[in-house]
Amino acid sequence: MFYPQEVVDQVIESNNIVDVIGSYVKLTKKGSTYFGLCPFHNEKTPSFSVTDNGNKQMYYCFGCHKGGTVLTFIMQYENVSYTDALKTLADRAGIALPKPDYSKEQEALSRKKDAILEVNKEAAKYFYHLLKSERGKNALKYLTDRGLSDETIRSFGLGYSDKYRDDLYQYMKSKGFSDDILKESGLFSIRETDTHDYFWNRVMFPIMDVRSKVIAFGGRVMGEGEPKYLNSPETICFNKRRTLYGLHAAKKHKGKELILCEGYMDVISLHQAGFTNAVASLGTALTEGHADILKRYTENVVISYDSDTAGRDAALRAIPKLRDAGLSVKVLDLSPYKDPDELIKAEGTDFFKERLKNAKNSLIFEIYCLQDQYDLNDPDEKTKFFNETAKRLSYIEDRLEQENYIQAVSKEFQIEYSMLKEKTKKLSLSNDNRQGFTTTPTIIKKKDETKTALAQCQKMVLSFLAEEPSFYDNVSDVIDESDFRLPPYDKAAQLLFSQLKAGKVNPNSIINAFEESDVQEEIADIFHDSFLKDISESDLQKTINDCIIRIRKSSIENQLDGVQDISRIVELKKEQERLQKFNIFGRKS
Ligand code: CTP
Ligand code: MN
Repeated sequence: MFYPQEVVDQVIESNNIVDVIGSYVKLTKKGSTYFGLCPFHNEKTPSFSVTDNGNKQMYYCFGCHKGGTVLTFIMQYENVSYTDALKTLADRAGIALPKPDYSKEQEALSRKKDAILEVNKEAAKYFYHLLKSERGKNALKYLTDRGLSDETIRSFGLGYSDKYRDDLYQYMKSKGFSDDILKESGLFSIRETDTHDYFWNRVMFPIMDVRSKVIAFGGRVMGEGEPKYLNSPETICFNKRRTLYGLHAAKKHKGKELILCEGYMDVISLHQAGFTNAVASLGTALTEGHADILKRYTENVVISYDSDTAGRDAALRAIPKLRDAGLSVKVLDLSPYKDPDELIKAEGTDFFKERLKNAKNSLIFEIYCLQDQYDLNDPDEKTKFFNETAKRLSYIEDRLEQENYIQAVSKEFQIEYSMLKEKTKKLSLSNDNRQGFTTTPTIIKKKDETKTALAQCQKMVLSFLAEEPSFYDNVSDVIDESDFRLPPYDKAAQLLFSQLKAGKVNPNSIINAFEESDVQEEIADIFHDSFLKDISESDLQKTINDCIIRIRKSSIENQLDGVQDISRIVELKKEQERLQKFNIFGRKS
């Protein structure tokens, strides 16, 4: 945390959340809560709620599950960092912020990051210089043969790493960099007996963050050779799972979509051809982190992965992640070409434009992939395909959206409309019925489906305690903060339990103890109590009780792994048995 907690609290308290959000979103009061159309996803009926009673100054969207404090709202809506959001709100309330209070470690870390960025910048300049020198003649030829213009090479800062094993190292030493920092940069292997560069004799692609700082490199062999690409290892400046190649340039594009491809050359070729909205996830599978970042810059993503099976499978895996982030997704067909780079080279800009225009909606794409698994000449197989298609359609919650899809799918796949509709409606109904209480808690929303049951239990118990602090004493007989072992709930539990002990729950200070905005959202989720209302009293009691037992049991299992002492083992086993009969609600009132 860069500012003292008291200051953050003061800024938040001085900005009434309804006033602040009300200046961006039209809110209407219903009971004690305000509702409006969610600014983070498209919707027609308001599911975005804002509460401002007492400590509980929160917003939460029942549609896309974004939620948090007035501070996270500004971060998400204005697309700014934590510190910038804090400054905005401080200005708004006329509060002068003190000089940021860096801790010693943070200061050291931030200095180290700057030093690594300096190394990378120097290295990128050197690689570019080599490319343009006599020594880089072949590399330059390789790039121009691949169709890249001087302008493109310059704007992406492409370069060449020489074939001598410590060429860059010697250069950096001559510039006065210390071994310590060179080691941290990931560009060298530095040992007492042997020191060498990580990249030799490759064309170099600097990887930049959104501020256009070089955070890592990719290097390609010229021609054939393994590995084709080599990438910098992760460092304190480079997190693969959150980096999109080309975003520094693509973010300037103020169009309506971003094109997502696989590789360096795809991005570069597309930009050169005028599609300056292309980015790549660099061979790694698309992560939720990538999806979140895309969502900061656009509402619409067009997947343009390679047309081979691997690319198709990667697209099928990326689609749900992008959708979960609230993005609308299309898939572009590159066939018969392998990737965007090859297509552009063979057919030119207009052809790609046409393909872009014809990109398929992601659900239609998924159904095409599904269709490939069935032999439609066989009546049995055809029925199975039909049923499976209806099942997919039945998951669409919004009825109007579902209807539109039934029409589109029936047309695209020549399935009789009324039959498809009937089947889909039937399946939708049985999905709804299944949402009644079973052993898995009902309140697990879409976003949580990927979480493990244990994580869901931890989250729900924290949520319950935040809402019903009077049960703390009962619960604390069985579990304490150390039983919450899954991040971020471990830290959230520590904070919440200490607040419960002190008798005052303050969600804001817990949410703000986390720095990354996606984690903050996760934590904010704990403090929205919709499930307590959606679920009957007895179901809730059973669920929470089960969750507590499950958390403690898993914690005991974990302890048993490490214990040698027989008497301790017996003790833990006994506790496991006792847990079976545990009932927090039975002992209350
Ligand atoms: N990749 C990687 N390591 C490899 C192969 C691929 O990191 N050994 C990453 C690179 O970011 C590459 C992307 O995955 O750009 C896509 O790989 P691929 O389709 O094999 O390469 P292309 O992008 O087609 O590269 P090129 O056109 O240069 O052959
Ligand atoms: Mn390629």
